[in-house]
Amino acid sequence: MNKKIVLLLLAILFKTIPMSADEGMWLPIFLQKLNEKEMQSMGMKIPASAIYDVNKSSLKDAVVLFGGGCTAEVVSDKGLILTNHHCGFGEIQSHSSLENDYLKNGFWAMKQDEELANPGLSVSFLIRMEDVSAKVLEGVNPSMNEQKRKDLIAKHISKIKKDASEDNKYDAAVRAFYAGNEYYLMVYQVFKDIRLVGAPPSNIGKFGGDTDNWMWPRHTGDFSIFRIYANKDNNPAEYSKDNVPYKPKKFLPISLKGVEKGDFTFVFGFPGTTQEYLPSDAIQMITEVINPVRIDLRQTRLDIFGKYMQQSDQIRIQYAAKDAGIANGWKKWIGENRGIKRLSAITKKKDFEADMNHWIDNQNDSPYKGLTKAFTDNYKPLAYWKKSETWLVEAAYGIEALRFVRSFNSLVELNNKKDTDPAKIEELVKRLISGSKEFFKDYNSTIDQEVMIALLEKYQNASADISYPDILTQISQKYDNNWEKFAEKVFKKSILINEEKLLSVLENYKTSDAKKISRDPLFKLTEEILSHHRTIILPKTRFYEQNIDSLQRVFVRAQMEFTPTKRFYPDANSTLRVAYGKVNDYYPRDGVKYTHFTTLDGIMEKESAEVLDYVVEPRLKELYKSKDYGRYAASDGRIHTAFTATNHTTGGNSGSPVLNADGELIGINFDRNWEGTMSDLMYDPEMCRNISLDIRYCLFIIDKLAGAHHLIEEMCIMD
Ligand code: ARG
Ligand code: GLU
Repeated sequence: MNKKIVLLLLAILFKTIPMSADEGMWLPIFLQKLNEKEMQSMGMKIPASAIYDVNKSSLKDAVVLFGGGCTAEVVSDKGLILTNHHCGFGEIQSHSSLENDYLKNGFWAMKQDEELANPGLSVSFLIRMEDVSAKVLEGVNPSMNEQKRKDLIAKHISKIKKDASEDNKYDAAVRAFYAGNEYYLMVYQVFKDIRLVGAPPSNIGKFGGDTDNWMWPRHTGDFSIFRIYANKDNNPAEYSKDNVPYKPKKFLPISLKGVEKGDFTFVFGFPGTTQEYLPSDAIQMITEVINPVRIDLRQTRLDIFGKYMQQSDQIRIQYAAKDAGIANGWKKWIGENRGIKRLSAITKKKDFEADMNHWIDNQNDSPYKGLTKAFTDNYKPLAYWKKSETWLVEAAYGIEALRFVRSFNSLVELNNKKDTDPAKIEELVKRLISGSKEFFKDYNSTIDQEVMIALLEKYQNASADISYPDILTQISQKYDNNWEKFAEKVFKKSILINEEKLLSVLENYKTSDAKKISRDPLFKLTEEILSHHRTIILPKTRFYEQNIDSLQRVFVRAQMEFTPTKRFYPDANSTLRVAYGKVNDYYPRDGVKYTHFTTLDGIMEKESAEVLDYVVEPRLKELYKSKDYGRYAASDGRIHTAFTATNHTTGGNSGSPVLNADGELIGINFDRNWEGTMSDLMYDPEMCRNISLDIRYCLFIIDKLAGAHHLIEEMCIMD
């Protein structure tokens, strides 16, 4: 056989390899058409229409987008919702102080009037979704340049959104799917009075902390409870003490049956971002250029935070949320890089591209000719600019003071503009005052000064390989590379990070103060770095990314044509999706097998009085000793804490309901395993697992530890 035919046969073989049943985050509107049969063959006992239906109530009416980036589910007819502890963390922290340390001790509203309001927090119900590709892409043609295309699409989208919002009754969004080959309209009802109802103490809700984060075996009681409030007509309203608990169209029944290995489960929520259809060049850029910089610089910040957090309770509270956020990305990227390497993902993608190119070459006049080369031509320069940008973002903006001072930019600008309405300035100053108070509540300048020195030193050491802000070169010359001296001076001289001085300026603000602000050493530093980002780096990244966007759109289409038997799911984009799979264990490495569930015994096993992450809540220990488990014990007599399954999930799926074959709530999704975090770029059915809190552990804590029996009674719990 000649080589060409062999390659062709190989290509055909490759094309018919089925994707594993576990991979994918599916659009609820297409479940019936694409997935119902498979879901039922895997064990599901309900029809797809029970999950999503626009005409009658369905499970989708019990799932909400929580805040900006999590999911929550309605579990009572009085608008009670469950999400993760880490999703409610910011709110729990904001109500906490040294006197009322809800982070440490937990919080339970024993009556409705004790529930705490959270300005700024909202939840969104999806009312419906609709394919609007034809309307959005009307008049768009392949020869159009990317900017023209974008403008036309934006015009269509704004009209569609306006029509769908029904005079602002709803929030409408149109999102791109399949890299812009399709567009869907999402119509949401947004509730804005969301109150905190309960949270376990952190040594339950965050048990294992960042030591266990992204890892299995896991014992985190990662849940918190909120309630949706509505006006008297059951419609969304801003916070008011006259608001009443929302009466939902649907709430989830809860099952105490637990899970066995092999059981069907599905996760219903709002996954944020995946990038499954990228070319090898992109995977290379992400894992070999961007991730290492992020990991290194975050490690530096975490080391400094950690040192101070251990020394003082006040700092521990102030820095808890920031630390968790930084650590979360840091650890995920480490896992992602390892997973991509273990999977040989770059080689796999390269092989795929070679096969595809062969297929392309065998066609006369394929529209896909030159695609992979064009990717390389753009990713090569992009990688340099992305590296520069990552350094700037993680090193310069990693300094809290710099991020904070950015907000004064608009004040100076407004002031410098001719005939600005003074009322506008007044308003902005007011906002800056409240923003500043919020910032200083959780700010420690000793920590930040140390962070500044460490990050700027590293930034300078990397400067030869990246586009580096001139201002920093000048400073290093002036201070003879002594960043310590520089930081000391800036922190001493700047009024912008001195709470007292800053507030006194803002509270007696006169237009002449703008000069004072613009001359502040921190302001100048921030300005120059910002301007380097805006005028030097961004135009370059935008240019190459725009080229890549149009290539990617074609590449996705090419992949669909090249592998016509494969079912394609769209990448996650914070829209409502269903992922389904089975409860399953896994082999993380040679000679090691992990079971699919963990128990309270494991919490006792991990206990350590010295390691903060493994301090066990005394009340939990009591319950463990007395074996007072009530109806929440599994058939083996133990409390099961968490379980793993093969549902394909990502960031944003936190707090998502995990449901059984009957559509009953059995868990709350909260994490993935470290060995599987590369699933945002490439999924591996052998290794990728989502991690869920066993709902029985959650109820056990609410009932037995908190004694919040009224909440248990509100829910529909089935034995
Ligand atoms: N890894 C989980 C998620 O991505 C949990 C994060 C909780 N944060 C933490 N630092 N422990 O969001
Ligand atoms: N913890 C993640 C979140 O906050 C979910 C874990 C994941 O990325 O899969 O959404």
